[in-house]
Amino acid sequence: MRKLLTFLALPLALASCEYESLETKYPEAVATCDTAGMDWAKARQILEDNSCISCHGASSPSADVALDSYAQARFHLVEGRAMGAIRQLDGYSPMPQGQPPIDSCSIARLQAWIDQGAPEE
Ligand code: HEC
Repeated sequence: MRKLLTFLALPLALASCEYESLETKYPEAVATCDTAGMDWAKARQILEDNSCISCHGASSPSADVALDSYAQARFHLVEGRAMGAIRQLDGYSPMPQGQPPIDSCSIARLQAWIDQGAPEE
């Protein structure tokens, strides 16, 4: 089983350098991560669980980045700087501010939502 999980994680780790450190650190979490059938409700739950929405809600959102509506979150995740901030890449403000990075499965699920066309439902 462990071999299988490592085998499944490998293409993900190789697919993108951006993922590398998280996925080599937590390969099993990523391999068992359910990224199928993402929609806005699931994506929003991840943002909610990681405090994003408490600082980036509808009224006076930090940095004018509102993440609580489908249209705005879609804009910031697909076209904006949110995934760079979440992955804590150079040149981005690391998010969530003042907290540990969000777990690799949640990052993979947000990326899957984007790759699936960021569907509302
Ligand atoms: C404690 C409050 C707080 C939390 C929690 C928080 N943010 Fe932020 N966020 C800020 C502030 C303040 C800024 C503007 C200052 C800065 O860029 O450092 C910001 C900036 C940003 C930016 C612009 C970054 C850039 O480099 O242009 C994005 C995108 C963002 N946040 C997304 C998120 C996401 C996604 C989460 C959840 C994973 C999150 N934030 C959690 C307060 C927060």
